[in-house]
This record gives sequence, C-alpha cells and structure tokens, in this order.
Amino acid sequence: MNFVIVGASAGLGRALSDALAEKGHNLLLIAGDERDLQIQASDLQIRYGTEISTLACRLKSDAETIETIEKSAQKLGAIDGLLFPLGLSRDNDDGMQSPQYVHELLEANLSGTMALTGRILPSMLERNRGYIVGFGSVAADRGRGSNIVYAAAKRGLSSFFESIRHKAAGSGVKIHFYQLGYLETSLSFGKRLPFPAASPKQAAREVIRHLETDRGLTYFPAFWRWICLALRMTPWSVFKKLRF
Ligand SMILES: NC(=O)c1ccc[n+]([C@@H]2O[C@H](COP(=O)([O-])OP(=O)(O)OC[C@H]3O[C@@H](n4cnc5c(N)ncnc54)[C@H](OP(=O)(O)O)[C@@H]3O)[C@@H](O)[C@H]2O)c1
Repeated sequence: MNFVIVGASAGLGRALSDALAEKGHNLLLIAGDERDLQIQASDLQIRYGTEISTLACRLKSDAETIETIEKSAQKLGAIDGLLFPLGLSRDNDDGMQSPQYVHELLEANLSGTMALTGRILPSMLERNRGYIVGFGSVAADRGRGSNIVYAAAKRGLSSFFESIRHKAAGSGVKIHFYQLGYLETSLSFGKRLPFPAASPKQAAREVIRHLETDRGLTYFPAFWRWICLALRMTPWSVFKKLRF
C-alpha cells in the first residue's frame, strides 16, 4: 500500500516510517529538512527494498503547499494511508505572543492537517478505502497555563478528526486519532516529566496494529485515559490551583 507520512523525519514519524516500510509499504516521507529525509529514505530502501520518496516541505494550509504534496503523493499511485505525526511546540507559548507566532503553531498543529485531509479524503471515500491518522496531546484535554496555542490547536484537531469520522462512518475509510502522553522524542527532551515517556517505536506499533479497527479515539499510553478523565472532572476551583 501507499502511505504519506507528514512529519516523518524524527520521533514518532520516523518510527512509523520504519514500521510501515518493514511491512513492505511504499512511502512518501514529508518533513522540513531535505538532508534528514534523504538519509532516512536511503536507509529504509536498503533495509526493506520498498519505494520511498521524499518531499522537503513544511505543511501549511495554502493551496500551493497542498497541491505540491498532492502531486508528489500521486507519483506513488492512489494514497491508502495519510498519517500526521507532525507537531510544533514552543517553551514560551504563553498565549501572549505575536500573530506570526500564533499562525505558525496553528499551521503546523491544525490548519495544515485540515487542508491536506480535505483534499485527500474525497478520493479515499470514492475508493471506499483508506486510513487517516492524526495525533493530539493530553496537554489539550484541559486548558493549562502553558503550551496555550499548541493545546488549543490540538483540541481543534481532535474535534476535526471526530467530525471526519462522521463523514467516513459506514465507509471503508478508517479515521483514527491518538491522544498522546509523553514520548521519548525531541519534543519532550530535557523536560521534567511527571509521568514516564513511552518509546515512539511502541506508539508506532500500536498505531499500525489498530489501523483496521474502528476505535476512533485512543489514548496512548492507555493510562492517560484515566488521568485525563479525572482532570476533566476536576472543578475549576481545584483545577486553577494545579500549576502546570
Ligand atoms: N513527544 C511528546 O512528548 C508528545 C506528547 C504529546 C503529543 N505529541 C504529539 O505527537 C506527535 C509526534 O511528536 P514527536 O515527539 O514525534 O515530534 P518530533 O520528534 O518533534 O518530530 C516532529 C516531526 O515533524 C516534522 N515537522 C514539524 N513541523 C512540520 C511541518 N510544519 N511540516 C512538515 N513536517 C513538520 C519534523 O521535522 P522538521 O522539523 O525537519 O520539519 C519532525 O520530522 C506530534 O503530533 C506531537 O504534537 C508528542
């Protein structure tokens, strides 16, 4: 099958690329750095012998970017899977930054994914098959005093994936959304974490194992489901005292 992975060159995206190539799938790897992608593609080709193409491009919601990605993907043939393990967070994301800053975080964490999905989903529905997988964050379950724009974007992304799951309901197109806890990647590197980080390899295995299922929303690692439930039920008078 043919998979497009946006945010393929590091962390979870890299682990997903490896696991899918190992299973013999053809891939289009997308991320910002051409050199990273070239090295990764050569490595996967040598190890697994599948067709691996690359596109150095930052996902945004403008028509030109979306067309460029669509054209590159079409070279593989019909797209069976569209995976979005990209993410962009900043330490100073305090909700009081410039419009350009906000725009950049929204493009990387929300609007780019919505625009590309909007372009690819109709052809999947027409063929009555396909997988679209998005990745959110447990940081978005409740608004906190940090990661403010990132969390807002991820909350929007979660809503978007639930909505497209409605559109695809009853068809052969599977829509998955993962609400992720900490992963051992550059996004969490050097941070003091209150809970252990999971390996991106484990997360990738979970995603691929469940592609055919109809689970919709999955918390990974699974224990986060209960932590997030407790946080959502915590009254504001208590929640406001939690400094995180
Ligand atoms: N790590 C965690 O603790 C954690 C926790 C909760 C949720 N998540 C979510 O889990 C997913 C995977 O995170 P990760 O930790 O694996 O991230 P990561 O290690 O930072 O890797 C992100 C990947 O996305 C690419 N990327 C970033 N912005 C992009 C853009 N606009 N267009 C195209 N590619 C872009 C990066 O490459 P370039 O920079 O070269 O483009 C890189 O390949 C993300 O959705 C993240 O928000 C992570």
